[in-house]
Amino acid sequence: MANTEAHGRGNWNSTLGFVLAAAGSAVGLGNIWGFPSQVADNGGAIFILIYLICCFAIGLPVMIAELTIGRHTKKNPVGAFRMLGKGPLAPLIGVWGLICGVMILAFYLVVSGWTLAYVIEEILYYFGHRDLAAVVGNLEHGTKNAIFSVLFMLATITIITGGISNGIEKATKMLMPVLIGLLLIMIFYVLTLEGAMDGVRVYLMPDFSELNTGVVLSAMGQAFFSLSLGMGALITYGSYISKNQNIVQSATYVTLADIGIAFLAGFLIIPAMYVALSSGIDILDAEGNLVRGTQLVFIVLPEMFHNMGGLGLVAGVAFFTLLSLAALTSTISLLEVPVSYAIDEHRITRRKAAWGIGGGIAVLSVIVSYNINLIDVLVSVFNEIGLPLGGLMICIFLGYFWKTENALLEISKGYENVGESSFGAIWSFFIRYICPLLIGLVFISTIYSMLPWFG
Ligand code: PHE
Repeated sequence: MANTEAHGRGNWNSTLGFVLAAAGSAVGLGNIWGFPSQVADNGGAIFILIYLICCFAIGLPVMIAELTIGRHTKKNPVGAFRMLGKGPLAPLIGVWGLICGVMILAFYLVVSGWTLAYVIEEILYYFGHRDLAAVVGNLEHGTKNAIFSVLFMLATITIITGGISNGIEKATKMLMPVLIGLLLIMIFYVLTLEGAMDGVRVYLMPDFSELNTGVVLSAMGQAFFSLSLGMGALITYGSYISKNQNIVQSATYVTLADIGIAFLAGFLIIPAMYVALSSGIDILDAEGNLVRGTQLVFIVLPEMFHNMGGLGLVAGVAFFTLLSLAALTSTISLLEVPVSYAIDEHRITRRKAAWGIGGGIAVLSVIVSYNINLIDVLVSVFNEIGLPLGGLMICIFLGYFWKTENALLEISKGYENVGESSFGAIWSFFIRYICPLLIGLVFISTIYSMLPWFG
């Protein structure tokens, strides 16, 4: 106990607490903002199909791998790879995760700030303060973006300083049910509105002509991002799990919850766009494609809410509160990774680590606030490439250096005889061969398609 205190490490109180916290990390802007926009941009249901393959064939095995590494080592990603690997290179996998996490959090805070700002924008607009509403809703207003990003970081730091069971677990246990409730109410409401069914049709109709390597790369990046994989967030969360917990079962719950909420969010966002269309709002660009994701959530939807009077106020405030809550449970896990690193490796107190590192990342987010074009660049480098690259390294490390037999031994503490089960054999095969192969193939075909002489 004294040791635990000195390291500032904690534990989840219960399996449910862990599953909700991990699902809270997974369910975020990636589900409610990212997924529906990606579906709209990338050929509807064809994207959903590839996405599901990525989640089950790559995401779930990697999630089990991360949780197992975390629980076995009881360490942050850098410390975990240092402990399990022999050479000086192993910890670099953790360092890469740390870098990706910090850079992702830098832009994630800005988008989270937009969601928070729009809760206020909806209220200001309804009560007639149109000019102020326009400022608060302006996505390109640097100072306004900076203020809301920093506010978001303050909320994140406050929860993180509370620790694992008292801070993160308590907060997510409260926030997740509210989030799911709000989402369901909004879907039922939107589906009753005129035009909604056109959206449902577009959502569920695959357009095979859109299929290309870019779509596959996006789907894989989206799967890693949405499941919080490839950067050690789940190694960190795994390090607080108790030994008798069944990692495979918990990982399956988290994956299903994440996919389920992304799929549900599609039933809200895409039909809502067609409701907007039927009330005369333009949702197509000059070439006849649906407008890009960001405009969709932050321009088209608010316009629809504005046209709906008092009901629009309630719906708008509920929707953006929902987004803010989902984002908050994810920023918590993004910040927890470098914080746990500082606590474990540099013996800094949780409070100091949270304020110091959180403050540093807040400064980065202020830079992004003034240069929102950076968001696209950061998404491409750290999310679409960085996370799958991290996942690839985790699979290779676990499969060929730490060895799947050792991992199965760790998993068996909460799942008897997994080493002899067919599940154990399948999982090992996926970690050693299928996942690296699939991730590698997507990378190679993307590079290939980018080379000018191959057109
Ligand atoms: N999964 C979160 C989302 O969907 C984002 C995230 C990525 C959180 C990586 C933690 C680690 O929004």
